[in-house]
Amino acid sequence: MISDNTGPILLLGGTSDIGVELALRICKGRDVILAARRPSALGVVEKQLLQAGASKVTCRHFEATDLASHRSIVRETQPTTAIVAFGILGDQARAEHDESHAVEIATIDYTAQISMLTVLADEMSYGDIVAFSSIAGWRGRRANYVYGSTKAGLDAFCQGLADKLHGTQLRLITARPGFVVGSMTKGMKPAIMSVTPDTVADHVVAALERKGSRTIWIPRRLQLLAFIMRLVPRPIWRKMPR
Ligand SMILES: NC(=O)c1ccc[n+]([C@@H]2O[C@H](COP(=O)([O-])OP(=O)(O)OC[C@H]3O[C@@H](n4cnc5c(N)ncnc54)[C@H](OP(=O)(O)O)[C@@H]3O)[C@@H](O)[C@H]2O)c1
Repeated sequence: MISDNTGPILLLGGTSDIGVELALRICKGRDVILAARRPSALGVVEKQLLQAGASKVTCRHFEATDLASHRSIVRETQPTTAIVAFGILGDQARAEHDESHAVEIATIDYTAQISMLTVLADEMSYGDIVAFSSIAGWRGRRANYVYGSTKAGLDAFCQGLADKLHGTQLRLITARPGFVVGSMTKGMKPAIMSVTPDTVADHVVAALERKGSRTIWIPRRLQLLAFIMRLVPRPIWRKMPR
């Protein structure tokens, strides 16, 4: 449970809208390590965390595609809460013609995620890991199948990892948000049941306050939409805008 966990928080993707909102909610009295590919952009977040009661905030460089660095970051920071919040939406239209961009999306949103989650599960003896799946991974969609496929793979990985951790002192919260209005979706028309990063963070905190690993739909009623999504015939489904 969250109140028992007073050790360091490691936010991987230190400028993530969702990750920062979550860190702000759980940082009181705790050390926070912000790991980001642009450490120079962390000044505001650092101030916000200190104002929210963090005992100390440290910023460090983190490039998710540098897989060889993952274990040393975790060993050096020794988190008891790890928030895996890095990711890119990518450009679907470009990825359909530029295989290097498709691979870039897959590397950041799948390969680097499972590398980091493997390291965290291996190195952390207790505490909480938070990972971000998405409704985009629920059913492959013509409009965003590159990003969606990474989330499908990540979600499957998280389901298995949560079961591996069952009965241990370490647990995994897998968040499955729908459309989140923020930096990642800037300029896009919000889909139905859109939420904001603070709502996502509130749901994750609620899951952290309960026991055990959990997979959470955000908002909760998205689960019903997900059920219906699987029933939509393919000729209609392939025309879905996003
Ligand atoms: N926003 C949504 O609609 C939505 C919906 C469902 C799930 N999610 C998932 O939720 C998680 C957090 O999303 P968000 O909305 O908070 O996104 P965000 O605000 O765009 O933050 C993404 C973070 O990832 C970092 N990042 C990207 N590539 C990186 C790399 N190669 N190495 C290190 N850091 C890297 C970004 O750094 P920079 O600031 O340097 O770019 C940023 O800190 C992601 O996994 C996302 O896929 C988001």
